[in-house]
Formats: sequence, structure tokens, C-alpha cells
Amino acid sequence: MRVSIVNRVLYIFALVCFLLGAKPVSAQNARQTISFDAGWKFLLGDNPEAKAANYNDTQWRTLNLPHDWSIEGNFDEKNPTTQAEGGLPAGTGWYRKTFKLPETAVNKKTFIDFDGIYHNSEVWINGHYLGKRPNGYISFRYDLTPYLHFGAQKNVIAVRVDNSDQPNSRWYSGSGIYRNVWLVTVNQTYILNWGVYITTPNISPKSAGVNIRTTIHAPALANLKLQTLISDQAGKVVASRVTAVTDTLVAQNLTVSDPKLWSVNRPYLYKVTLKIISGSGRVLDNYSATTGIRYFNFDADKGFSLNGRNMKILGVCLHHDEGALGAAVNTRAIERQLQILKAMGCNAIRTSHNPPAPELLNLCDKMGFLVMDEAFDMWVKKKSKFDYHQDWAQWHVKDLQDQVLRDRNHPSVFMWSIGNEIREQFDSTGISIARELAGIVKKLDNTRPVTSALSEPDPKKNFIYQSGALDVVGLNYHQEVYADFKKNYPGQKFIGTENMSALATRGHYDMPSDSIRRWPKDGKTPLKDGNADYTVSAYDNVSAYWGSTHEETWKIIKKYDFLSGLFIWTGFDYIGEPTPYLWPARSSYFGIVDLAGFPKDVYYMYQSEWTNKPVLHLLPHWNWQPGQTVDVWAYYNNADEVEAYLNGVSLGVRKKQGDNLHVMWRVKYQPGVLKAVSRKNGKVVLTTQVVTAGKPYRIVLKADRSRIQADDKDLSYVTVTVQDSNGNTVPNADNLVHFSVSGNGILKGADNGSQTNLQPFNAQQCKTFNGLGLAIVQSRQKTGKIVLNAVSEGLKPARLLITTTK
Ligand code: GAL
Repeated sequence: MRVSIVNRVLYIFALVCFLLGAKPVSAQNARQTISFDAGWKFLLGDNPEAKAANYNDTQWRTLNLPHDWSIEGNFDEKNPTTQAEGGLPAGTGWYRKTFKLPETAVNKKTFIDFDGIYHNSEVWINGHYLGKRPNGYISFRYDLTPYLHFGAQKNVIAVRVDNSDQPNSRWYSGSGIYRNVWLVTVNQTYILNWGVYITTPNISPKSAGVNIRTTIHAPALANLKLQTLISDQAGKVVASRVTAVTDTLVAQNLTVSDPKLWSVNRPYLYKVTLKIISGSGRVLDNYSATTGIRYFNFDADKGFSLNGRNMKILGVCLHHDEGALGAAVNTRAIERQLQILKAMGCNAIRTSHNPPAPELLNLCDKMGFLVMDEAFDMWVKKKSKFDYHQDWAQWHVKDLQDQVLRDRNHPSVFMWSIGNEIREQFDSTGISIARELAGIVKKLDNTRPVTSALSEPDPKKNFIYQSGALDVVGLNYHQEVYADFKKNYPGQKFIGTENMSALATRGHYDMPSDSIRRWPKDGKTPLKDGNADYTVSAYDNVSAYWGSTHEETWKIIKKYDFLSGLFIWTGFDYIGEPTPYLWPARSSYFGIVDLAGFPKDVYYMYQSEWTNKPVLHLLPHWNWQPGQTVDVWAYYNNADEVEAYLNGVSLGVRKKQGDNLHVMWRVKYQPGVLKAVSRKNGKVVLTTQVVTAGKPYRIVLKADRSRIQADDKDLSYVTVTVQDSNGNTVPNADNLVHFSVSGNGILKGADNGSQTNLQPFNAQQCKTFNGLGLAIVQSRQKTGKIVLNAVSEGLKPARLLITTTK
């Protein structure tokens, strides 16, 4: 009876708080972290006066962060970013946000946390200069406390972003405050930013030691206690400790019984909750972090093991752009990329060549990916005229420290890379810098190996290797030396930090499929025999000269246990670096998946090798010239053989021989139905077919998710397919499709995966490319419906409903 009265009182209190617009939970929290993304003013251009508190910004555009102004621009060969960065505009921009703080915050500390600004950001609060941060990928914080107003008086934060020093990158960077921003309010006694370090040094099936080091800032330490709880995924507290605070660094060693280990197949996470409690029992700060309990090892003979089980690292490199959305962080966009990679069997990501968005690491923790967290693409010696080499001397220590401090609690992060293809590997300066960087990392985290992605494979000529600072030798390309690695690098452990650089355009096929092209063929000869339409064959028969086809390198990695794994360049196509072509090519050909997120055929080779899921994938499409010789390939697994049929007539049975990864038939083309049947012990495993398509007849829209959150952020990715009147995808359809969105959403971007699509990504129309297009629909705050209409001249239009919910 008593309990129910108490419950009722609490309920009424909560209801009153709700009706008054207060947030009962956060009001109780000593620490408040709020999103600071909404309602910024933006100016594309420069105006030094905009730093002043009383500057009039009413004419500026209003927007929400994260924001990338480059992606809103037009592709132009003449943009100073050059083709390497996708030919999108850069320049200088200003952001301003006006905000009020309650009187209750007067005695608190208030910080602003930027997850990343590209680049050279400078920040002012109420006209006071807080500082500059050149690195475009690092997260950083400013203490606003001394300069703030409370109550009725407004505060203004102004941010200048200078990305005009072009070129400064070898790939598309984006411009602006392209990651999330947070306002953090704490009491005078609080846990420092990135001030909690969790390690799990002793793990057995029965128990796991969880060591937690917490750094506290406090005017006085007397009588403070630190209470720490570890809870499992069901919310049950599985370990706890209360420690008297005698120093600003508090060490606590907890034990979790029967720990559930984090792995790529079962990414089990624990929650760690910390509270600083005063002598009178007041909670002065509360902080939470996630952790995973796992151990791993690199072995010079046996390769990599996670939790005692050998496994290959099946990784891909990723740049940070999200295709048509550019660099502006969107959690759903990253999650979709990871889901597509997970379904392929990928289990690891290399964040080439910079610290990633925190959201990527959170998702990797949750979804089960190992992460090689990379710091730099250059050290003292430049790769582009205005790149980070300019800031190296002043900033590399701080930037690397901050990266490690920020990321060292993520169970997904399993290696640090101190640099990619660093030029100092070729001279003796590489020795001291490699030692310095590895030392910085080790001081803050000695639980993970340090590597560097080396492109000089001769150990005698590689000074970064000779520094002795690397725990694991990371080789980029040069698969020809892998078999002899143990001989040439005695006692060393191997990881393929970057592999393949195979090239392909989705849905384009050049024959014969069994002759391999190196495009370009060497470093001196520009590509002359490329395709007039800037396509590259998707038969996995083209690569850059420094790399290989997918099959060439995967066969080698697969063969030797001591080769712990690889990171394919790249998982997704990215904007910029359109090797092997010149303009109008503006995005890369390296992806296993195209820029719009549509898998190229080789995706299914990996799926057949890297998953247990039954795979049978047949290529190419079946629209050719009568009489033409066409190579038919199939990727398959879980079967002994595949038989292909053309219009019901068998083309023969094929079995993978030796280390083959696909089977092939050379066929005289006739229109009709090309079918494949995979069999195991004579029993059919899978059947698939491609059908000659007729003329484009209609548009079909299909959403990856037809119910999304009404939060101004969530996305529905809608595949636009051009079909003939029988429902077959028309494999060469390039119809211009116009979109219109009504209801509670907007069209956020459109793309088709073609590397030469110069239509701006935010246009309301897009041509399909090889039959497919993509419309990215974003929710608004309101719940209800979004309607996407797609029309194209001569085609039956389509309409799609998406529901938005809270
Ligand atoms: C590598 C480099 C990558 C990318 C790739 C293209 O040498 O590390 O960033 O440029 O080549 O093949």
C-alpha cells in the first residue's frame, strides 16, 4: 500500500515535470551533456567582424549541424580542391550560435565539445578568442566558463572554418562543422574529459578483472568518494566498488564473474557508471561509458586470435564520407554502411587515414567490428601542398594524445596506426619519429599494438620498420612478398594494412574477363587505353599497378596462417581520388560497394568466402548483342558445383578447382534467360537467374526502412530501379528521374553510384546509372507520413510511403 502511494506521488511529479517541459532525469544528473547541433547561423565566406558578440548575423542562413558546405556545391574541374578531392568547392565559412544559460549554471563548469571541424577552426565565445585547432579530424573541447552570461543575457559562440588552403587532402574532406557538437555542464568537481580509462587485463572463463582509472578535477578532494558500477546488457549490476578519493587519479579494480566476452559475432557490451559522491552524500558528477571484455593476440606463426580463437581479420579501409551526404556525420548513414559490410562478412575497419567520428566507433562496438584507428597520412613531409605537415611540429603530440585518450575505451579499437605510407619510411628521420609516436601511444594505452601502414616492403630499406617501434608490421600492397614474410621479417607479426586497389564500376563488364588490366600500368604512363565513358570492368579484372585484383591477394592471405588478415582498399567508393581517370571522373573506383551503396559483383565473392550464408551470384547482366561472346561468372559457396543454363539448355557444370574463387562459362550470347543452379551432393542448394530486359517501362521504389524516427536525422535509403514491363531491371537504363517529397520529410541527397555523375548531390533529380539510382529521404521532427514521388519521361511513375514515428 505504502509503495503504491509513493509510486503515485512519483508519477504525479514526473507528469508535472513533463507538462512544465522540464526533464526530470537530466535535472537529477550532476552532469548534463546536451546536443548543441540545432539552430546555428552560417555564412559561406569570410568576415573577421563575425567574431564579435554583437555582430548582426540575422541575414545568415540558419541550419543544424553536422554540416558540410562542400557537399552542397557544384562539381567543377576548376575548383582548387582539384579532382583528388572530388572537385567540390571549399573556401572559408563562419558559424554562429546564440544561446542562453539558466542562472542555475552560474557555479558550474560549461564546456563545448567539437567532435570534428574541417579544418583550421577558430572559436570565440562572447568575443573572447578560445583558440585554433588545425587538425580537421580531431575532437576537442573548450572551457567556456569564464566568459559566459547567465539568465536573460545571451551568449554567442562564433566559429571560423578555413578550408581555403587548397589542396590539403588526397581525398574528399568536406568543409565545416561536419561532426556533432555538445554542451557539457558539470559541477566544480568533475571527471575530466576522456578521464576514464578502462582495461581488462585478466580474463578467464570464470572472471574478468576490470581496471578503471578515473581522473578527477576537484577544488578539494577531502571526503569525496568514487562509486563505480558495472552493469550487463540487461541492466543488472554485476560489479561495484566505492573508493575514497585521495588523489586526482583514482584506481579501482573490479571483477566481473562469468564474463560475457565481446567478439565480432557477439559484441557484448557492459556499461560502466561512475559517480563522485560528496561527504554529505550528494552526487557531484556522474559519468558513463561502455566497455567490452575481450582479449586478442597476434602470433608470428598463427596469425590473429580473438578470445583465444584464431580468426582472420577481414577488413576494409574506409574514408569518412557518406556518399551523397558528404562528410556531415549521420549515424544512420554510417550504420547502413556497416550493415552492408557486415552482411558481406567483413569484421574490421581501418579508419583511413585519420581519427573517425565517435559514432563510427560506437557502432563498431555495438555491431562487432574490429577497428584499426589511424592517426596520420603524413608527418613532417607533405603529400599535398597545404596538408597537415604544416601543423606537424606544433600539433602532432597533442593530436595523437587526444585521439588515444578519446578512443581507448572502445572494445572495437584493437590497433593504433601511427601513419599511412609516411614518406619518412624512406629515410632515417622515420626512425626517431616512429619511436616518438609509438611512445606517445604506449604511455596512454599499452593494451593495443602499434602499427604503421608501410609501402616499402624491403625491411632493409624501411626506416619506420627499422625503428623497432612497431608491434605488428603493416604492409600496404606488395602481395608478392607475403609468402616470404617470415623469412624476411623473422619473428615479426603481419597485418595487411591496405590491399588490392582493384577498380570497378558497378554493372559494367569488359571482356575477355580472364585477362587482367593494370590501370594505370605504371607510375609514369597515364592511362591511354581506358574506356571512353570512364567506366572500369566489374569482372574483378582491373587494378592499379601497385595493387591487385581482389582474387589475387585474397588467395594469398587465405593460404597462410601467419598472415593475420587484411584491409581492402576500400569497402565503399569515396569522393575524390578517381584513379585511373581524369575529369569528369570525380569519385573513386576502389570500392567493393559503389558510392550509392550498391554492391559491385565482387561483394558476393567475399560473401561466399567470408560468411556461411549460402551464396550463388551470377554475372554479368543479360543484355548483349546477339552472337557476342560473353563471359559468365558465378560466385558460390556451400556447394560442390554450379550448372548454368541458357534458355533451358545446359552450358555445362563447373567446379572451383584448386584455389579458384569463381567459375566461368564462355558463351555465345542469345537473349533470354541465363540461369545457374548450385548443388551439393547432387541436391540443389540455390538457383538464380538473369533475364534479358526489354525497354524501360516503369520506376520502382524500394526503401531499406519504411518506418523511421521523426527526429530530423533518420534516413530512409530508397533504391530507384528502372524495370521493363515484365519486372526485370534494365541493366543499362539511364533515365532522368525527378523526385518530389511531401509530408514530414525531405530529400536529403540523390546519387547513382557512377563515378562521373556531376549532378549535385542535393539536386531534386538524378539519372539512373546501369538501372539503379538512390534517393535519400530524411525525416523531420513530426510523426506521420512522408511521400516520395518519382517521375521520368516515358516511364510509369512511382510513389512510396514512409512512416515517421517517435
Ligand atoms: C594508397 C594510399 C591510399 C590510396 C590508395 C589508392 O597508396 O595509402 O590512401 O591513395 O593508395 O590506391
